[in-house]
Amino acid sequence: MVDSMTEKHRPAKATVKRINEMSIAFQQAGILWAAIEMEIFTKVSQGVNELESLAGELGTELETTDRLLTACCALELLEREDGKYQNPPDVERFLVKGTSTYHGDWALYHKSGYDRWKNLASSLRPPKGIYDRLRDDPDAARELTTAGYHSSIRAGQKFAREQDLSRRTLLLDLGGGSGVYSIMACQKYPDLHAIVCDYPTILAVTDEFISEAGLTDRIQTLPLDYIADDYPSGADVILICGTLEPRTSEDHQLVLRKSFQVLPPGGELILITNMLEADQSGPVEAVFSNLGNVMGPKPWGRIHTPAELTDFLTKAGFTDLVFSDFVPGTYRRVTAQKPS
Ligand SMILES: C[S@@+](CC[C@H](N)C(=O)[O-])C[C@H]1O[C@@H](n2cnc3c(N)ncnc32)[C@H](O)[C@@H]1O
Repeated sequence: MVDSMTEKHRPAKATVKRINEMSIAFQQAGILWAAIEMEIFTKVSQGVNELESLAGELGTELETTDRLLTACCALELLEREDGKYQNPPDVERFLVKGTSTYHGDWALYHKSGYDRWKNLASSLRPPKGIYDRLRDDPDAARELTTAGYHSSIRAGQKFAREQDLSRRTLLLDLGGGSGVYSIMACQKYPDLHAIVCDYPTILAVTDEFISEAGLTDRIQTLPLDYIADDYPSGADVILICGTLEPRTSEDHQLVLRKSFQVLPPGGELILITNMLEADQSGPVEAVFSNLGNVMGPKPWGRIHTPAELTDFLTKAGFTDLVFSDFVPGTYRRVTAQKPS
């Protein structure tokens, strides 16, 4: 029988005993809860006190009933003499249903805490943001970036088809992931160069896609955290696609301000992102994305409405904003100019 927790017994000699006992203490709770749920103590009190009669009333097999009753005896929740079971005094007083001292429902109530306590360690750690995992785990980065490339080929082609980049020389692709948008744009515009910025874990995969496309002479990758780091100058167009959704309003504004600062007069920003409708009721994907952010660390990321993005962009200094659908139901696009 395990020592009572309140006795706080630490053996004088260092042994593994109490560590073992603590690590399987849940088994005791499981046995207690099962016996209460099956009303074994109540039945024993009513005189149903032999293996066969108990198994008959419980509708359980003799063998399993015997093992459970034996475990109850090992925990001194039952006593057995000459094949008959009886409740020890505390069990008789507190675990027999229908009495004024019944405590079984309270003991069973503790079951509800079991899953939470089982995961105590992870509850104590702050939740990781979706991008922290990509930054820290090369396997996760490879999985997302590979899937991201293949799922975005058509969107990348649409971007290259619809976006007039004929007068542009250098595209800065912030949070560019696989680089699929830069690759498609450089394939369409032979004079265009691009820099894809992302975490090093991601760029290891991006380099492979750029190499496969035969564009290593025109597209370079640059490890850069677009929140913490300075942006390189020289780009006359900046693309921010599908990366700001888990970011706060403040981070959105920071990235837009930093982009404005490095663009030359006449430069252009293209923001492709989930956007909420003005009344925030849709589209469904943006609503879900907004909700999903509350599973991340605080402060939570937020999906914005066109009016909010207009406010951010104009405060950063941009003019001539043009909003359009990009991938209906998923992405909207806004283009904005740095005045000449
Ligand atoms: C959903 S992917 C989109 C990739 C690409 N823009 C596209 O649309 O195919 C988001 C990317 O943003 C990157 N990212 C997130 N936070 C970043 C940061 N602070 N600095 C650089 N890249 C970041 C992620 O690593 C990831 O590759």
